[in-house]
Amino acid sequence: MEPTLLKLYRGKLVIIMTMYNETVLQHYRNPRNVGDIQDADGIGIYMSDICGDITKFWIKVREGKIVDVKYRTQGCAASIACGSVLTELVKNKTIEEALKLTKDDIISALNGLPEMKTHCSVLADDALKDAIRDYLSRNQLPVPRDLHEKHERMRPLLEKMKQMGYVLI
Ligand code: FES
Repeated sequence: MEPTLLKLYRGKLVIIMTMYNETVLQHYRNPRNVGDIQDADGIGIYMSDICGDITKFWIKVREGKIVDVKYRTQGCAASIACGSVLTELVKNKTIEEALKLTKDDIISALNGLPEMKTHCSVLADDALKDAIRDYLSRNQLPVPRDLHEKHERMRPLLEKMKQMGYVLI
């Protein structure tokens, strides 16, 4: 259990007591596949609409299969756990299979998340999907429209943050 915290949530300061189950805590305390891949075939980054936290994914692809995956997050305990479990879910999946994964798969693999933390699973999912979008785009393969639109919406914001001197992971 995290201690009682004062946090900004949906634009309001709230006092929260967040209960995490043992699976979430294991991934938080011992996150899998943290880091980056120097010669990645796809790199994705996303910022949560809800809290402003950022997650980045790197993927290595061989013959249409994700053979290696790493992530980093500037986020909460749940975002660390979501990124960690997602690397396990996606490893050795084909690109098509990976595209079908959803935030619900992440939450199920973690045996659940507190309701106010479900957006942390969305952040991990969006960041991974952005890495897949990057891989598809680099290889002149069709990019699903929703991934392209999300990327185009996020890009100016992240570029502006970089110009302002923020280190994006
Ligand atoms: S509170 Fe921002 S990702 Fe969890």
